[in-house]
Amino acid sequence: MAQEAHTPQAPQLIDLVTLRNVTATYPGAGAPALSGMDLAVREGEFLAILGPSGSGKTTALRVIAGFERIQDGEIHINGELVAAPNRHVDPERRRVGMVFQDYALFPHLTVADNVAFGLANSNGSSDARVGAVLDLVDLVGYENRYPHELSGGQQQRVALARSLAPEPVALLLDEPFSNLDRQLRASLRRNVREIVKDHGTTSILVTHDREEALGISDRVAVMDKGRVIQVGAPENVYRNSATADVARMVGPSDTVRGRIAGPWVDTEAGRFRYRSPTGPLGNGTFVETVLRAHDLELGPWEGDGAERRVYYREYQGEFTEYGIRLPSGRRINVRRRSIAPLEMGTKVIITAPFDRPVLVYPEKPLP
Ligand SMILES: Nc1ncnc2c1ncn2[C@@H]1O[C@H](COP(=O)(O)OP(=O)(O)O)[C@@H](O)[C@H]1O
Ligand SMILES: [Mg+2]
Repeated sequence: MAQEAHTPQAPQLIDLVTLRNVTATYPGAGAPALSGMDLAVREGEFLAILGPSGSGKTTALRVIAGFERIQDGEIHINGELVAAPNRHVDPERRRVGMVFQDYALFPHLTVADNVAFGLANSNGSSDARVGAVLDLVDLVGYENRYPHELSGGQQQRVALARSLAPEPVALLLDEPFSNLDRQLRASLRRNVREIVKDHGTTSILVTHDREEALGISDRVAVMDKGRVIQVGAPENVYRNSATADVARMVGPSDTVRGRIAGPWVDTEAGRFRYRSPTGPLGNGTFVETVLRAHDLELGPWEGDGAERRVYYREYQGEFTEYGIRLPSGRRINVRRRSIAPLEMGTKVIITAPFDRPVLVYPEKPLP
């Protein structure tokens, strides 16, 4: 007898940390720091929360860890309801680890004692555990040093070891690299991603640095004004940004007004192929056009038409950043691979390569 073919089971993605419609207001503050925040973090994933300063990123981590109460909504960790308006499970019982921007190591304790501190409540041999996590962060041999005898990057690895030692269900990282110089930041973030992925710990990293968020996360959640506006794989959030705000947050860009004309959008910067993440747009629709400095091409232009001229340039080795003055006097930035330099005052044409159309969003009607 014919049977319906079994569709192969998709790998089960378990949500380990979920926030549902969470609202949190600090005592005495007028506006809520989180207002209707939704987020589901999957088991074992490395999720980055990206948002401007003041958007509620730190507060999101603090309500997950249990340092702040919520006034509306629900938070679940590992299947347990840990926060709701009438429920607040203490931070110690939530078993989440936290790593901060300023490391927060005890200056008078050695590396080993700093790491053992988080294990104070667990009986039995913490020595073995300390050794294991120091090995994980590649700091074997540093057990007896004090924090001031370590570099910033090493201190941050001690902080990471300390928060991993008690085997947290999830690890929360609040801008952990922002006190480090640029080069160290790039190598340490790779290192940290490797460590927590090897260890299988579900991690939430908060940052306002788009390179960091896009570069090391499995998924990015973009926050603004106390809520998440888009969650997705980095490539998807970059290429199909849900709103113009998201588009601007994930790539350095300028916004100009445009009007749809067939497969093109006409703007004072030029005529471009476009992609419309919010759906098809009719001819004549006015749009916000997001022009990303990296994703445009620039060349000298002898022809007639609108005047767009180089007014500024900055050589950066692999590319040159050009400032272009548009007919209205507005200025935009375009990065061009450094070949023959364009002189100041050169009249230019700006185009979008075929595989990198500009993003457009319908203009919001005036209130
Ligand atoms: N302890 C506090 N008391 C009152 N308001 C606060 C406190 N901490 C943060 N806020 C406010 O809550 C909002 C969100 O802050 P925060 O979560 O720190 O943002 P982010 O980490 O994204 O910069 C901001 O408007 C901030 O001013
Ligand atoms: Mg913060």
